[in-house]
Amino acid sequence: MTVAAPARFTGRTALLTAAASGIGAATAHRLAAEGASVMVTDVDAEGARRVAEEVRAGGGRARDRRLDVTSPGEWAAAVAEAGSWTGRLDVLHLNAGRNLPAAAHELDDTGWHDQLRLSLDSVFYGVRAAVPLLRTAGGAVVITSSVHAVIGFKGFPAYAAAKGGIDALVRQLAVEYAGQIRFNSVLPGAVVTALWAEAPDEYKAQTAARTPAGRLGVPEDIAAAVAFLASEDAAFVTGQNLLVDGGRSISSQE
Ligand SMILES: NC(=O)c1ccc[n+]([C@@H]2O[C@H](COP(=O)([O-])OP(=O)(O)OC[C@H]3O[C@@H](n4cnc5c(N)ncnc54)[C@H](O)[C@@H]3O)[C@@H](O)[C@H]2O)c1
Repeated sequence: MTVAAPARFTGRTALLTAAASGIGAATAHRLAAEGASVMVTDVDAEGARRVAEEVRAGGGRARDRRLDVTSPGEWAAAVAEAGSWTGRLDVLHLNAGRNLPAAAHELDDTGWHDQLRLSLDSVFYGVRAAVPLLRTAGGAVVITSSVHAVIGFKGFPAYAAAKGGIDALVRQLAVEYAGQIRFNSVLPGAVVTALWAEAPDEYKAQTAARTPAGRLGVPEDIAAAVAFLASEDAAFVTGQNLLVDGGRSISSQE
């Protein structure tokens, strides 16, 4: 039996960051397919433009703009544009992050601060800029965390600290803005995107074998979870960290 995709975001506006590729792009397509007007943003302006064009080609409503999430000034301008475009902001997907592997004793100050700035400071900047519009709409924020927030891997101290910070921040914000804005995070496991471009096939196969689902994730797996958390289906869900990792985090390491 074919089940029609629900249109949970008709009349709603979503702003997505780091949406020129991977998980962000898949989420833009998913929300647009369910009726949202999507503002596709990325530091890669050309990539954001391409994704917005693809959404429009598929019959969706999209606009694009450059947004470097580490810039509070660019945040203010992007949120203002989203507001003037449709008059509202219902969904914010904060998705930027990068993992530059290095053991703690090999990580210099710049490496540490750059990762925290991109993955965690950016969340604070985005929330601060968007709260007024989200409050008015009774909106929802979904932040892309990582399985690294809950299990240890060698070589990712700054990335794990940033993602763990996101998960704690979500609980704080959910209480702070209770009854006005819902905040949740999604914790992907291994998802095949540009982040995995240079991973050897052998490592990918090993990771899939350690994943109870028996495969690596695809961006659409995460987009589906973001759409759920952003939708009214999750009206009673706030302050949560949802693992979407094919069971990787609950399996033994062997
Ligand atoms: N792919 C995985 O296995 C995986 C697992 C867990 C968590 N994640 C998280 O998912 C999120 C998306 O990752 P992805 O795998 O889709 O990666 P991706 O490489 O496909 O996309 C990342 C995007 O971030 C953009 N970006 C980089 N710096 C930016 C900045 N300063 N401002 C705005 N955009 C910027 C890039 O231009 C790119 O389009 C990240 O937060 C990542 O940590 C990914």
